[in-house]
Amino acid sequence: MEFPVFVSLLFLQLFLCSDVRADTPANCTYEDVRGTWLFSIGKGGNDNTINCSLDFQVVSKLKVQLLFPDVAVDSDGNVGFWTMIYNQGFEVQINGSKYFAFSAYTKSGKEVTSYCDKTLTGWSHEAAALKPSNWACYKGQKLSKVPPKKQSLRVFTYFFENRRFMPNYKFIDEINSAQQSWKAGVYADYSRMTMAQMMFRAGGPKKFDFPQAREVTEEDLLAAKALPKEFDWRNVGGKNYLSPVRNQGNCGSCYAFATMAMFESRIRVLTNNTQTPVLSTQDIVSCSEYSQGCDGGFAYLISKYAEDFGLVQEQCFPYMGHDAPCQEKKCVRQFGTGYHYVGGFYGACNEVLMRLELVNNGPIAVGFEVYNDFFNYKSGIYHHTGKVWTGNSSPPQSLKTDALHLQVGLSSRKVPGYWVNGQIQPIPAHQSCCIGRWIWSRSEDWGEVLDCEEQLG
Ligand SMILES: *[C@@H]1O[C@H](CO)[C@@H](O)[C@H](O)[C@H]1NC(C)=O
Ligand SMILES: *[C@@H]1O[C@H](CO)[C@@H](O)[C@H](O)[C@H]1NC(C)=O
Ligand SMILES: *[C@@H]1O[C@H](CO)[C@@H](O)[C@H](O)[C@H]1NC(C)=O
Ligand SMILES: *[C@@H]1O[C@H](CO)[C@@H](O)[C@H](O)[C@H]1NC(C)=O
Repeated sequence: MEFPVFVSLLFLQLFLCSDVRADTPANCTYEDVRGTWLFSIGKGGNDNTINCSLDFQVVSKLKVQLLFPDVAVDSDGNVGFWTMIYNQGFEVQINGSKYFAFSAYTKSGKEVTSYCDKTLTGWSHEAAALKPSNWACYKGQKLSKVPPKKQSLRVFTYFFENRRFMPNYKFIDEINSAQQSWKAGVYADYSRMTMAQMMFRAGGPKKFDFPQAREVTEEDLLAAKALPKEFDWRNVGGKNYLSPVRNQGNCGSCYAFATMAMFESRIRVLTNNTQTPVLSTQDIVSCSEYSQGCDGGFAYLISKYAEDFGLVQEQCFPYMGHDAPCQEKKCVRQFGTGYHYVGGFYGACNEVLMRLELVNNGPIAVGFEVYNDFFNYKSGIYHHTGKVWTGNSSPPQSLKTDALHLQVGLSSRKVPGYWVNGQIQPIPAHQSCCIGRWIWSRSEDWGEVLDCEEQLG
């Protein structure tokens, strides 16, 4: 029996899970991409087994203008939509078709060059809500030149990467005396790890500055007035809508765990807990060409994968925790639809829209900026203290990392610096890609990240 679950999936992703080895190393900004593009499109009429790694013959061209903030216009005057996916590429929907490709780059040793006026070969298909047809391969070329951007892939020196992570008691004291919202402490296990391992666990070095959050409008505020002060998907009228916590192992797959956890809980919400599937994260790691396996990926693109290719259940392709070939076992695939960023497009999110989305539709996948004070997080509502490591056993202040989480509830407890300079500060309650432990943990208590050591038992 086929039982596609029509998941109305809306979510936010402001910061993405990346890692030391990077998602793709491309680093293209909104301003680099905005402008007029020519898409060179191959023969259509294929299904989703089309292999766009192979060369293809161009049979048609599409000229499309990508305008501020999310408006696409083609040469026939059709009006559509576009969004960046972080700094990795962009998706366009226009005239009944969708186009997604990663931005072009080359890699030579540790030197990466981004060509933001070009795409790698991407995928186009019908813009259908489920199992789109009429697949083709395409490549994009922007009509105005964007200078190639060179950068070094790794931000660590060899010396730094291999240094041991040492507990910094002075730093911990500073954090604890600066505020009462959360407690810092020492994790004994961390000192067995190198700095590079720590950064990798935390999602890798931050690569990109965030867009400004969209301004909160009167309308947003009015809509948010009706929201409850306290809300938690683990207890809505006595029912828990979250799936069990899982361990992501030593693989940069938190994007897959966050997205599957979002789907799992949204399926529970939509079906009143009558369907409680656990979805395969290994299928994402091994089979999705919209992500980079254990090297990272993006919740937006995995939600697109759910619409284009469908998801399988855990038992179909159990989690291995490392890169492995895509397994061809035939299983029922379940499809999600309606993926998008909260606020509509990348950069359009704000806290009020997140709250509305969370309560009205279910848990959302949220990016989380990991500052180095978070390495010592023990309990409480985390917020960045602005405290800086001192001493030579610690990462420099400039090292920030990204990770992805699932937000499951709301709290009325105030978090200092919740939005600062348009950047979202860590969300006061979420399922967390727990740093240094590689476990998926959920807060025991509203507003708290679970104590990692306790969870491990
Ligand atoms: C697509 O083609 C490339 C290049 O020939 C090949 O390496 C890859 O395995 C193919 N992918 C699939 C899914 O067949
Ligand atoms: C829009 O779609 C129609 C129908 O498929 C097609 O005939 C037309 O050429 C398309 N317009 C552009 C600019 O590609
Ligand atoms: C990515 O590009 C932006 C803007 O061009 C730049 O500010 C940023 O430093 C780049 N990131 C890296 C890691 O080079
Ligand atoms: C949801 O399930 C509960 C049983 O767990 C049942 O009492 C309730 O009526 C159901 N609600 C709907 C809307 O079906």
